Amino acid sequence: MSLATFVPALQLRVADAREIARDIHLFELRAADGADLPEFTPGSHLEVLTPAGLVRKYSLCNSAFERERYQIAVKREADSRGGSASMAEALKVGDTLPVGLPDNAFALSSKARQHLLIAGGIGITPVLAMARWLKDSGEGRFKLVYCTRDAAGTAFLEELTSPEWRAQVTLHHDGGDPEQALDLWPLLENPKGAHVYCCGPRGLMEAVRDMTGHWPGGSVHFESFGAENRDTRHNTPFTVRLERSAMTVTVPADRSILDVVREHGVAVPSSCESGTCGSCRTRLLAGQAEHRDMVLMPEEQDDNIMVCVSRACSDELTLDL
Ligand code: FES
Repeated sequence: MSLATFVPALQLRVADAREIARDIHLFELRAADGADLPEFTPGSHLEVLTPAGLVRKYSLCNSAFERERYQIAVKREADSRGGSASMAEALKVGDTLPVGLPDNAFALSSKARQHLLIAGGIGITPVLAMARWLKDSGEGRFKLVYCTRDAAGTAFLEELTSPEWRAQVTLHHDGGDPEQALDLWPLLENPKGAHVYCCGPRGLMEAVRDMTGHWPGGSVHFESFGAENRDTRHNTPFTVRLERSAMTVTVPADRSILDVVREHGVAVPSSCESGTCGSCRTRLLAGQAEHRDMVLMPEEQDDNIMVCVSRACSDELTLDL
C-alpha cells in the first residue's frame, strides 16, 4: 500500500519492544489512555506506518481474546528498504505508532473439524494467533507445525516448548538445509475433514500446495509475509490490454498490474495483495502470465491471473477487465 492511500485509524503507544529471537522483534501496542482496542479475529493483520515512513502489514500474534493490547512480531530483513529495519532499530517503548484497523485475509474456517497450522520462520505470527484462539476458546482441535532454521531464530520458543503446548506443537529445525526440511506428507496425505493454514517462506507454501491438490476446495489457506522484500530487481515492464475497458496500460517493473489498472479507474476486488487470498482473480484472455500466487492450480493458470502479484512472460497480456 502506498502512503498516499494509508489513513491511520489509531495512534498506539509502544508498551514493550524487545528482540525475542535472532532478528525478530516483538512489539506490544496499547491505547495511550489504556482503553480497549478494536476487536480482531485470529489471522488478522495491522497496517503500520513504520518509523521510516513506509506502510507495512504485520500479523497480530496475541490472543484475539485480549482487548487491551495488540502484539506484532517483525523480522528484520537483511535487505530491508527501511520498513522492518526501522521497526527494529528506531521504534522504542513510549513511541507512538500510527496503525490501521485490524483486517483479516487469513481467517479460520468455522466449518473445520480440526485445524492443521503450518508455519515457517516469521510466518508463525498469524498462525500463533490462531493456535492461541483455538486453545483459549476450545472451538476446535488443532495441531501446530513450526519449521525454523535453528533454536536461536525461533520466536516464542519457550512458550511453544512448554508443557502447556507440547502435545499440540511439532517444532522442526532444518539448519538452513532444504534436504533437512520436515516431510509434510504424513500430515497432508489424508485430509480427514481438516483445514490447513500455512504461512511461511515460499518453498514451504509451495510444498503444502503441491501436497494438498487432493484436499477439498476451500480447505487449504495461505498467508504470505515479507512483501517488502519481494525481489523486483529482475522484473521487466510489460503492457496490459483491458478488453472491456478498451484501454492499454503499461505496468512498470516496480508496480503491480492491480496498482496500475486501479490508477486508471478500473475496479478490481482485492484483500491480501500478496497472492494468497484469491480475491483479485482475473480472466486472462491472451498472453503468457508469470504466475507468482499461491492460489491457482496448474490447470487454472492458462485462463486466470492474480493481478496483485503475477506478471507477464510475454510482452503483453489481455485481461477481461
Ligand atoms: S488480492 Fe489476494 S490474491 Fe490478489
